Amino acid sequence: MVELAFSILAADFTHLADEIARAERGGGTIVHVDVMDGHFVPNITFGPPVVQAVRKVTKLPLDCHLMIENPDEFIPEFAKAGADMISVQWETCPHLNRTLQHIIDHGVLPGVVINPATPVDFLVEVLPMVHHVLVMSVNPGFGGQKFLPRSVERIAHLRRLRHEMGLNFRIEVDGGVADDTVESVVRAGADMLVAGSAIFAGGKAEENAREFLRIARAATAVSV
Ligand code: DX5
Ligand code: ZN
Repeated sequence: MVELAFSILAADFTHLADEIARAERGGGTIVHVDVMDGHFVPNITFGPPVVQAVRKVTKLPLDCHLMIENPDEFIPEFAKAGADMISVQWETCPHLNRTLQHIIDHGVLPGVVINPATPVDFLVEVLPMVHHVLVMSVNPGFGGQKFLPRSVERIAHLRRLRHEMGLNFRIEVDGGVADDTVESVVRAGADMLVAGSAIFAGGKAEENAREFLRIARAATAVSV
């Protein structure tokens, strides 16, 4: 089942609860929260207090994408704030197995994220322990960037690996996913679709989400 994980980074923060409600009415089923620290990526966004606030206004699962250095230090706080899923960037984790176990120990679904320059094959050892793999289709740090076309082959590669290894983790994609690119990522095998600007543009999250999902669901994954 293909799902929309709408990224609140592109929402109108002065009306965040309304924006979330609109995206949910349009069919969004996961709230994607982009956490940036100004070190790993050149931007600063939200921390646990925002996750805690969002937790109070929706029942949808909260998917926290940690673009931060030393994520182990902050996992307990995000778990406590109400995260249902936490993903960490492969590039920030020298002890990735331990970090993923740390997420699991806090009762949260673990994910790993790879930047566009990180080979998919580097994930082989941790694939059996993750709930999802997030393939970045832009370099992280900002919303509204252009989709990198090579991401399609990277998703397909990951899907082949999943099949070969007999696993069932989910494949998430994030960055520049919009009405004109969503079909290609779904066909390649992505089933958790992160979209920010495509959803919150023009204050029309409900209509945008509905149209985005219509296009996404009309596309189906091609066989492995
Ligand atoms: C980028 C973030 C994304 C971002 C996507 O670093 O991880 O989740 O919000 O935004 P759009 O959909 O606008 O590319
Ligand atoms: Zn993200």
